[in-house]
Amino acid sequence: MDAATGLRTPPEIDIDPYADDVLRSPDRFYEILREAGPVVRLSRYGAYAVGRHAEAKEVLSDYARFTTTGGVGLADARKPGDARALSELLEVDPPDHGPVRSAVQRILSPVVIKTWRADFEAAADRLVQTLVGRNVEAMSDLAEAFVFEVFPKALGIRFEPEAIRAIGLMMFNQSGPKNALWHAAVAGGTPYLEWLTDTCRRENVVPGTVSEQLFIAEEEGRLRQGVAANIVRAFVRGGTDSTIAGIGALLKNLSEQPDVWRRLKEEPTKLKIALDEAIRLESPFHVTFRTTLEPTELAGYALDGDTKIGVFLGAAGRDPRAWEAPDIFDIDRRVAGSHVSFGAADHNCIGQMLARLESETLMGALLRHCDTITPAGPVAYRTINQMRMIETLPLRLG
Ligand code: HEM
Repeated sequence: MDAATGLRTPPEIDIDPYADDVLRSPDRFYEILREAGPVVRLSRYGAYAVGRHAEAKEVLSDYARFTTTGGVGLADARKPGDARALSELLEVDPPDHGPVRSAVQRILSPVVIKTWRADFEAAADRLVQTLVGRNVEAMSDLAEAFVFEVFPKALGIRFEPEAIRAIGLMMFNQSGPKNALWHAAVAGGTPYLEWLTDTCRRENVVPGTVSEQLFIAEEEGRLRQGVAANIVRAFVRGGTDSTIAGIGALLKNLSEQPDVWRRLKEEPTKLKIALDEAIRLESPFHVTFRTTLEPTELAGYALDGDTKIGVFLGAAGRDPRAWEAPDIFDIDRRVAGSHVSFGAADHNCIGQMLARLESETLMGALLRHCDTITPAGPVAYRTINQMRMIETLPLRLG
């Protein structure tokens, strides 16, 4: 305790949040993090970390104390050696963030997203009809196959599965430390960087789509020059793996709980929040970072300035201080808008309505065509520095 300020020093924990076993199964680490205190220091990285829901929300919401301008990864993106181009949306603080967010929100609006429903439903019906009565690898055959079918088309982005996979792996491993995962993913993704830059050019987005609208907004002065390509890039990176991971978590939970599946058959409107409940339990994003610019305080603890602070979203999703029976998948829980797996405050996920629509239409088709979905083999998780994502999910579609 500091005698002058009355503030305590955060306890240290020495577990590596990026160790393979933690990435595959983070719940024990999340519990240790939450129970160590409202804020801790990760001794291996010199960064602070929070795992409780209240502090997660506070850090994500207070831009004056916790800026995103140092980047949302572990490294400080402003420092020599780690400097990189920042996202024009996510890595900009209010008030500068506001005009960009409003311009993009007007383009990716609820009205526009609703117009995609019929196409998504038809695509989901087609896909599920080819799989019903079979054993499937649900991550590739269902979650990825569906997102790859509808997402790039809806946004108007040129599509190349190998490139999208390699770029996703690179981006989400690069937000962590320079460990073996980081090096392998950078080696795998670098050959596709030119493809990504090219894909996000004005002439390569599909006319009449959301992506073209971003460039039109730029031409009409509603977005600064250069921002449209940066946002298309954020969509490609931010919208694909996250949604596949979330749908995977939902499929796993539904396959393990036949009573919930039966209930959804009777009340399919409950599907609207099923994705939220699945990602509260298994947040696709393991962690996102902010930076303290000045020395500050959090929950009675003194924090140094110019230091990274990790918000462990999956830990907050299971915080017993915030959720009753936090480990139970409960489709009656009032979860939408209150968990932090879609972020919080000004930077809350701008694609969440789209992610919900993808999940709802795919699950709707499964409910229409399958009597049961049941586990058909062991589930395995991937190791990606910033993500929690199932690798193999064998299911029987009965
Ligand atoms: C289940 C699926 C998804 C999850 C779990 C998810 C999660 C998140 C989270 C946690 C944040 C806030 C990050 C932070 O504050 O550091 C965020 C922001 C964002 N997401 Fe998503 N996301 C999903 C789907 C999508 C989709 C489909 C898109 C593309 C349309 C998208 C695009 C974005 C963008 C552009 C931001 C930055 C918003 C801003 O800074 O104003 N996301 N997302």
